[in-house]
Order: sequence, then structure tokens, then C-alpha cells
Amino acid sequence: MKELMERIENDGHVLGEGVLKVDSFVTHQVDPVLMEKIGKQFAACFADRQITKVVTIEASGIAPALFAAQHLGVPMVFARKSKSLTMNEELLTADVYSFTKQTTSTISISRKFLSAEDNVLIVDDFLANGQAAKGLIELCRQAGAHVDGIGIVIEKSFQDGRQLLEEMGLKVVSLARIDSLSDGKVTFLKEDA
Ligand code: G4P
Repeated sequence: MKELMERIENDGHVLGEGVLKVDSFVTHQVDPVLMEKIGKQFAACFADRQITKVVTIEASGIAPALFAAQHLGVPMVFARKSKSLTMNEELLTADVYSFTKQTTSTISISRKFLSAEDNVLIVDDFLANGQAAKGLIELCRQAGAHVDGIGIVIEKSFQDGRQLLEEMGLKVVSLARIDSLSDGKVTFLKEDA
């Protein structure tokens, strides 16, 4: 997605150790106009797939997932990273290891919001090592739901996430694919859409 890549070039900042800061339009302050276009693009890519739910993980996955869900005309469900006070029903849970933070967290979705009838599109803002996506796939598996594909806003192609997901037989659609962040410079691979 050309507009997204231009925005990354103009407003993204490369931090040390392969990290891209996009907090002025994706991960902290959010640009709703760009996000809406991102959601629309995901919806177009999966328009003929009979998606019944878009699933993501809080916090930064919510904005692109919500717009994708709006354009597909289906609900969006986000996995929580900590248990909500009102979550007293049965939960689907999975452990997610973060290589970045070197911590494991338990993510959860209420069983009532995912079922064996669901055909799921997973959406997230970043794909690095793929552990968050793997956790979301596990929640879907526990519910008996089918994962149809994965929509990623920014893929760090120099990390293992995409390979991991493709080895699971999943279709990955990334709107920006970063080849390298070396020397403080962003270089891209050909994007999926
Ligand atoms: P993984 O899920 O692909 O394995 O990623 P990893 O453990 O490496 O990353 C953990 C968190 O860091 C995730 O967000 C992920 O989206 C984010 N992240 C990974 N690489 C980058 C990067 O280069 N830039 C930015 N800005 N974020 C990155 P999170 O901690 O769950 O954050 P949030 O969604 O709650 O804000």
C-alpha cells in the first residue's frame, strides 16, 4: 500500500535493534483516515472469503481490525492481555512469548465470541516473530474456528513471523514489508496489497 509506505518513510523513526517507531500514526496517536484505508484494503483482499469475524489483540491491533471489520460488515473481537473485571465467563486462553520484552503473557477471548461456525481474519499492526498471531490462532483453534488468513499493517520481513505463519499454511497479506532497518534507513520488499 503505497500511501502507508510513504507515511512510514516520512513519519516513521528507526530506533536501534531493528525497531520502527510509528507512534504518530499507528501505535499511539492514530491517523483515522489512513487506518480507514488500511481496513478497506484488508476487506478488499478478503472480500470473497466469507469472513465472519475479524480477530486482533489489544492495543494497537484494534484500529486496523475495526476498520477491516466495518468494511467486511462483521464484528471485531480483540484478545485481552489482562483479565477484565467483568470477564467471569468461560475463556479461551493462550500464552504469548514476546522476544522483544522477553516475557510471556496470557491472552484471552471469551468463548461466547468465537465458535466453530466462524471463519476468521486475524489483523495486527506489526508482524515480527509472529508470536502474537500464533497466540490468536491458538484461541481460534480452541474455539474450533477456521482461520482464513492474516492481515498485517507492517511486516518486519527480516524476522521470522511470516515464515512461521506460512509454514502453518496461512495466507498472509502485509500492506508494508520491511526488508531492512539498517543504518537508520527503511527499505521495503514488494508489498502484498
Ligand atoms: P511478535 O508478536 O510478532 O512475536 O512480536 P514481538 O513479540 O517481537 O513484539 C511484541 C510487541 O512489540 C507487539 O506489540 C508488537 O506489535 C510490537 N513490535 C514488534 N516490532 C515492533 C517495531 O519494530 N515497532 C513497533 N512500534 N512495535 C513493534 P505489543 O507490545 O503487544 O504492543 P501494543 O499492541 O499493546 O501497543
